[in-house]
Amino acid sequence: MSKLFISCALPYANGPCHLGHLRSTYIPADIYARFNRMNGVDTVMVCSSDEHGTPIAVRAEQENKDPIDIATYYHKVIEDDLKACNISLDSFRRTTDELHYEMAQDFFKTLYDKGYIYEKKIDQLYCDTCQRSLPDRYVEGICPYCDSEARGDQCEVCGRHLNPTELKEPHCLICDGTPHVQQSEQYYFKLHEFEEPLREWISNNDHLSSNIKNFAKEWIKDGLKDWVMTRDMNWGIPVPLEGAEGKVLYVWAEAFVGYQSSAGAWAKEHGLDWKEYWDDKTVHFIGKDIIYHHTIFWPSMLMGHDWKLPYSVVGGGYLSLEGQKMSTSRGWVIWVKDFLEKFDSDLLRYYMVINAPLSKDTDFSWDDFQRRINNELTDNLGNFIHRTFTFTNKFFDGKIPEPGRYDEIDKEFEAKIKALPDTVAEKIEEFEFRDGLLEIMTLTKEANKYFNDKKPWKGVKEDIESAKTCLYLSNQLVHELAVILTPYIPESAQKIREVLSMPVENVKGFTEFDERGPLVKWDESKEFLEPGHEIKKSKPLFKKIEDKVIKEEKDKLYALEQAEEEKEKDKKEEKNMSEQISIDEFGKVQLVVGQVKEAERIEGSDNLLKLQVDLGDEIRQIVAGLAKKYAPDEIIDRKVIVVANLKPAKLFGVQSNGMLLATDSMELLTTEGNVGEYIK
Ligand code: MSP
Ligand code: ZN
Repeated sequence: MSKLFISCALPYANGPCHLGHLRSTYIPADIYARFNRMNGVDTVMVCSSDEHGTPIAVRAEQENKDPIDIATYYHKVIEDDLKACNISLDSFRRTTDELHYEMAQDFFKTLYDKGYIYEKKIDQLYCDTCQRSLPDRYVEGICPYCDSEARGDQCEVCGRHLNPTELKEPHCLICDGTPHVQQSEQYYFKLHEFEEPLREWISNNDHLSSNIKNFAKEWIKDGLKDWVMTRDMNWGIPVPLEGAEGKVLYVWAEAFVGYQSSAGAWAKEHGLDWKEYWDDKTVHFIGKDIIYHHTIFWPSMLMGHDWKLPYSVVGGGYLSLEGQKMSTSRGWVIWVKDFLEKFDSDLLRYYMVINAPLSKDTDFSWDDFQRRINNELTDNLGNFIHRTFTFTNKFFDGKIPEPGRYDEIDKEFEAKIKALPDTVAEKIEEFEFRDGLLEIMTLTKEANKYFNDKKPWKGVKEDIESAKTCLYLSNQLVHELAVILTPYIPESAQKIREVLSMPVENVKGFTEFDERGPLVKWDESKEFLEPGHEIKKSKPLFKKIEDKVIKEEKDKLYALEQAEEEKEKDKKEEKNMSEQISIDEFGKVQLVVGQVKEAERIEGSDNLLKLQVDLGDEIRQIVAGLAKKYAPDEIIDRKVIVVANLKPAKLFGVQSNGMLLATDSMELLTTEGNVGEYIK
């Protein structure tokens, strides 16, 4: 039996799922997985929550929480969202799982041992106030290419990958201070060595869609620069090398391994070997913003290991909302959970697929959603199924009639019914999910016309043979739909099967191990039901969405946006106010004259000095970020100004009880005053 490894991009565990995630990544992956399982392919579909990196670390700091607590909370939220949309994952784990740490460190170590990783000093941003380096999203500033506001790792407006040091007017996200450039040693991956094999892989891979190929070719043509795989941070997976203390793997240097560690955990639980799946056929489902990562970084990392490259990478276009870019911070977003409180997940799945080809960007609009659900799902598909069932129940005693005479129209209709499953299968195999669904919707439209033209309600009185053929064929199409719609709208497909008295399977949530071999096989769609086959009473499958429901949703969206705008305004005002302080507030700061008695460097930090400072009645230990400017013995005996009542903190594991005043460029403030004297 052939095997298939499907991965979905790992969602960052710093927020719930929104419709965009589902559109580009999880729904397409699920369609492909369900289709393959139905065709007897031994499939494993995996995902994990992506829990490292600055998105979560920054959020944790801003909210004064532990990153792991945020990740744990959202892992569960995301799991519930994906389950509610019936994304039939076999395995959904976390990149903070022990097995993932092991596999990610192993992966890195192997690349290192094979000579693909080297050390090099680089410029990076450092914040003196926070006394830390500022990787990636710890900084915001102005994009040097397009002058828009950008984050340290990427400009969302022009799409370029950035280094924090490239930003104009950079500021620290934690304290808003201006960072300066500092050197630090990091581990580089020899990406440039893979230019040629990458070019070959991309040119010779027929399964990659043209959008992916074109992007990747362009990037390789520009030349590939070596890639920094590590960061000075404490939230992340430690670099598994000696001398790399205090450094962690860059989140993108380990997240990909999450595909394998998720499969690894699953395989271990069930006594299987995940590599067999990987080596047979692997497909990555992602959104278009991370095509670079999956066509350049990841294949190179795999080549460095001599591992098989993916069969394909499927990159879904971006979803906007009511014509505007989605923005979670601005409240311009629809969360999956909110959506599902009002509408069935199948409506979402249908709309997200039919709306545009997967590789194209597209828009979610409430009006268009209503139109498509009402006109297409309800009036077209639902109506055809419902009239077939009610007619069969009313005039044929709930049994599929023996077909009578066939005329040309019947023959043509039957031929189309028979051809559809293969056509749809071909489209799904080529990742053209929308085209497959369009084929289905086109035939149901024709089927409604066929039903109208055949007028079986007249036929039962005047031409029973014709009516029997019409209902025989209509029921065959309905049965076929109940199979081939399963990958697209699984719950609805099962409801149709129920009325058809066909065995029904559980399509909800994730895939339980013992439910992996699905009951409904794709080829069942090619089998006609026998005349006399009994059906049950039926209810309409879909309901129309009323105008007032849509209006409510639109109002809610705009209200939410307004509320967020207001919050933003309040925040700004608060900040402006806090820029002016009263004399009383200033009086709270206890400034004392001190004298440095001892000074030494802190191991592992280029920047920090451990000082013993005499405050007259006590000796204080203070850690100061001055090592770049002052050697330890240059600072000994100096008189300094100490903030004496600062809350104690630990820097690089060293206790610090106070702070020295210095300028932005690290010039120490000194004084002629006497040791122990207060400064007012
Ligand atoms: N953690 C990374 C992926 C690591 S894979 C080794 C990530 N996470 S994400 O949470 O930002 O995005 C999850 C998926 O949703 C990605 O495939 C991403 O491309 C996709 N999308 C995020 N926002 C989207 C839209 N607005 N529209 C369409 N897809 C979107 O990226
Ligand atoms: Zn700062």
